[in-house]
Amino acid sequence: MTQLTGTLAVAVFTAVLGSLQYGYSLGVINAPQKVIEKNYGRSLGVWSEKADVLSENSTEEEEFSEAGQHPDVIMYWSLSVAIFSIGGMLSSFLVGFVGDLRGRVKGMLMVNVLAVAAGLLMGLCMMWKPHIMVISGRAVMGFYCGLTSGLVPMYIGEIAPKAYRGALGTLHQLAIVIGILISQVIGLDFILGNDDMWPLLLGLSGAPAVLQSFLLPLCPESPRYLYILQGKEQEARKSLLRLKGAYDPTPDLEEMRREKEEADRQPRVSILSLIRSSVYRQQLIVALMMHLSQQLSGINGIFYYSTAIFARAGVAQPVYATIGVGVINTIFTMVSSDYSWMSYVSMSAIFLFVSFFEIGPGPIPWFIVAELFSQGPRPAAIALAGCCNWTSNFIIGMTFQYIQTWLDCYVFILFAVLLLGFTVFTYLRVPETKGKTFEEIAAVFHKGRKKSAQSPKAAELQQLKTSTDA
Ligand code: GLC
Repeated sequence: MTQLTGTLAVAVFTAVLGSLQYGYSLGVINAPQKVIEKNYGRSLGVWSEKADVLSENSTEEEEFSEAGQHPDVIMYWSLSVAIFSIGGMLSSFLVGFVGDLRGRVKGMLMVNVLAVAAGLLMGLCMMWKPHIMVISGRAVMGFYCGLTSGLVPMYIGEIAPKAYRGALGTLHQLAIVIGILISQVIGLDFILGNDDMWPLLLGLSGAPAVLQSFLLPLCPESPRYLYILQGKEQEARKSLLRLKGAYDPTPDLEEMRREKEEADRQPRVSILSLIRSSVYRQQLIVALMMHLSQQLSGINGIFYYSTAIFARAGVAQPVYATIGVGVINTIFTMVSSDYSWMSYVSMSAIFLFVSFFEIGPGPIPWFIVAELFSQGPRPAAIALAGCCNWTSNFIIGMTFQYIQTWLDCYVFILFAVLLLGFTVFTYLRVPETKGKTFEEIAAVFHKGRKKSAQSPKAAELQQLKTSTDA
């Protein structure tokens, strides 16, 4: 069994700093909404007008909500939230291009310029019009996150030893969740989510990129990129030895050689040709369905609107319950307030939902796409799957509140029904990838294609039978 080396650990840790940043940016906008709206209102001149009208003894809460209700503030606020996903939707198409240009490691390094620029735009937003600065920063940050949410799983998928591919792939999601949690905690009003510090809270989203930029030069380039795309066998060998320690890399190189031969025989797989090609159709459907099931589970209905959901369920301190979703402050919330019976049920159900999400549909879609495709179509597939993820994330973000108005407290029944459908699909169509080489996984789909009546699952069973018979 391959050992886990220090270099591999450093490489994975460094890569997932990008995922941490993605999670932070997803979560950071939630808690300080009122404070930011107030500042937008001020800069637009609508808050001070209101402040004149408001009586001397109106509470701060009332002032905030006055500012929040102004149509211009609402518009700029919604744009600040939504533009992040739009940036991600656009850039996810470029993942393949950036990853192939100078390699995975240099790709991650290059895109960090975007994260730092975005952090500066938001951190320094009070120097000019904060609403314009924040919206620009969020757009650039979304653009960065669209790239990083593809580059990180691609790099990890390619450097991880077969036996650890799943476990290491999960770290991308783990870092996302930790990022969300950190942003929720430091977004509390007595830490950074207040009138003075909120620009720093947003600006800090660029910080992991700085650390990552120092560490990336220590990370070996993906051996698969070096050999299969660049034809640099010796460099691939060196990279393998650094990642896996002292071992005989011949079988790994042999597998890559076969994949290279196949890739060289086929024309370059662009996004368009991947969509058109019937060769990869099965894999592509599986990849897209996995990402759809992640987003249409309604998870971001919880992450974006949990505070409102908890408030409706009668939780006295919904912001803390939101952090509890990120796990940390549950106990604090429990002791500080008086709950009705139903609010416990609602909280437990949401905690359970999030826990199960994090075991299955959370992490798996991110790394399974890299596993399902061979080197040639992999970047294009990751780009398409990423775009599917960002688009459905955006749609849920924009429509959740309307669906909730429509279905009221039954809103999650809709997601439960969708999940049931996805469960059936996963059972019937998604083959096991654990412990298999990329070649073996591709073979499952090729067999499935040859006997078009046969699903990948059936082909997998047959593959298993053949290997046992032999
Ligand atoms: C996944 C999703 C992301 C979600 C997160 C929650 O990474 O892609 O949209 O917010 O999980 O843990």
